[in-house]
Amino acid sequence: MATIITEPSYTFNEFLLIPGYSSAECRSANVSLKTPLVKFRKGEEPSITMNIPMVSAIMQAVSDDKLAVALATEGGVAFIFGSQSIENEAAMVRRAKAYKAGFVKSDSNLSPDNTLADVIDVTNRTGHSTIAITDNGTAEGKLVGIVTSRDYRVSRMSPDLKVREFMTPLEKMVTAPESTTLKEANDIIWDNKLNSLPLIDDEGKLCYMVFRKDYDTHKRNPNELLDEHKRYVVGAGINIRDYKDRIPALIEAGADVLCLDSSDGFTEWQRQVILWIRENYGESVKIGAGNVVDAEGFRFLAEAGADFIKVGIGGGSICITRETKGIGRGQATSVIEVCRARNEYFEETGIYIPICSDGGIVYDHHITLALAMGADFVMLGRYFARFDESPSNKVNINGTYYKEYWGEGSARARNWQRYDMGGAEGKMAFVEGVDSYVPYAGSLKNNVAVTLSKVRSTMCSCGALTIPELQQKAKLTLVSATSIVEGGAHDVIQKDTTPSVK
Ligand code: IMP
Repeated sequence: MATIITEPSYTFNEFLLIPGYSSAECRSANVSLKTPLVKFRKGEEPSITMNIPMVSAIMQAVSDDKLAVALATEGGVAFIFGSQSIENEAAMVRRAKAYKAGFVKSDSNLSPDNTLADVIDVTNRTGHSTIAITDNGTAEGKLVGIVTSRDYRVSRMSPDLKVREFMTPLEKMVTAPESTTLKEANDIIWDNKLNSLPLIDDEGKLCYMVFRKDYDTHKRNPNELLDEHKRYVVGAGINIRDYKDRIPALIEAGADVLCLDSSDGFTEWQRQVILWIRENYGESVKIGAGNVVDAEGFRFLAEAGADFIKVGIGGGSICITRETKGIGRGQATSVIEVCRARNEYFEETGIYIPICSDGGIVYDHHITLALAMGADFVMLGRYFARFDESPSNKVNINGTYYKEYWGEGSARARNWQRYDMGGAEGKMAFVEGVDSYVPYAGSLKNNVAVTLSKVRSTMCSCGALTIPELQQKAKLTLVSATSIVEGGAHDVIQKDTTPSVK
C-alpha cells in the first residue's frame, strides 16, 4: 500500500510572516544578507559565502557569462547552463573568470594601417572613443599606439588618412605591466591625468584596459563576489552523463562551484557523480545536488556528500512536470521539510548543508519566505530571464518589450540529460517545460537592488538582521484562500491597471 500524506503541500503564496519585535537596530542598512553557498563544519567558515542569497538557474535562457558577471557584481552566483557542448560551457566560464572587475578586454581595436574612416566606424559601432592600436588590430596584439577623440578632427582630416599618421604612439603613452593591481592602475590614471591605462605583458602585448570611469563603477559595487585572485565567483551546471569529461574542463576553466542539473535528484546517478568527484578531487571541487522535495531525498544526497542541496520539483514558472509526470510537491512544504531534515543532520553530524529553494519565486517576498522557512538561498530563472544581461532575445509585441524564456525540458532546449533516468541517450519522449515570454524589466542591478531592499525591510519587521536570525525568529502563518484576496488591492477601482512590480 502506498504511503498517503493527507496533509496538503503548500506554496509560498499560502504563507505570510507575522512581524516580531523590531529594536532600534532593525534598519535596512544594518541587515546582512551574507549566506553560505557550500557546506561547512560547526565553528568553521564555508569556503564560499555569498553576499546575497540569490543564484541564477542553470538554463539556456538565463545563465551565460554576461549574466554571471552581472550577478557576481551584486554578490550572488550564476550557474552557467550545461545544456551545451563542454567546450562552449567551459568557454563561458573562462570568459566570466577572465573578466576582472575594473579591467576590461579592449573591444575597440585597429591596426596602424587602418584609416580614419575605420576609426569612425568602430566608434559608432561600439560607442567607445578609445581605440587601442595593435600590430594586428586585435585585442591581444602588440600595443603600438592609441587613438582617442583628441587625436583627430573629422572636419579637417581625410577619411583615408592612415591611423599611424595621427595616433598617439606607444613611446608617448603611459602603460603599466599586466600584474598591476586595480588600485595601482587607478593611482597611475590619477597621477598622469589619463582617461585609460593599457596593461601590457612582457612582450608588449595588450592584456587589459583600465578606464577611469570603470574604477568608479567598481567602487559602487561593494557587494561584488570575488575569489582570492579578485576574479568573479562563477558556477556551472553538469549532468550525470558526460561528467567525467565536463567536470575537468569546467574546473580547468576556473569554475568555483558545480551543480548537478536534474529535475529529480534522488537517484543513484547523482550519488555516482559525487563519489567520482570525491575520488578525483577530494573536497576541493564543490558540488551542489538535487532536486529533492522531502527529508529522505535530502538524507540521501547529504550522505552522498553534496555541498549544497537544491529543493523543488514542478514549481518552476515554465515547468509542466507535475502535469506530465504527476510528480512534485508544493514548494513551501518541500523547503520546510527539507530544512528540518537539514537541521537534524546538523545536530547529528555538526555539518551544515546549505539549502537552495529552486523555482517558483513569483513575488519578491517569496524570497524572504523561503529564507524564513530555512533556505539559505534561492535559485531563480524567470526573475533573471527578464533582464538585459540574460542571453535570450528581447522582442517587441504590440509595443511592449518581452524577453524569451524557455524551460530546459521544453522542445526548444531539449536538455534531455536533465530528465535522464538512465534510458536511451538523446531521447526526450515528452516535454516537461514550455517556451514563453516574460515582461522585459531592465537591468539586473536595478531590479536586484529593489528586490533586496524589500527582503531587508521584511527582515527588519521580523526583528532579524541576518538570515540565520530570520530563520530562528520568523513566525509564519498559513493563510486561507479568502485572506489571499484580502492581501491584494480590493474593493477599489484601480487607476493604474499595469501589473504591479513583482
Ligand atoms: P522559475 O524561477 O520559477 O522560472 O524556475 C526556474 C527553475 O525551474 C529552474 O532552476 C529549474 O529547476 C526548473 N526548470 C527549468 N527548466 C524546466 C523545465 O523545462 N521543466 C521543469 N522545470 C524546469
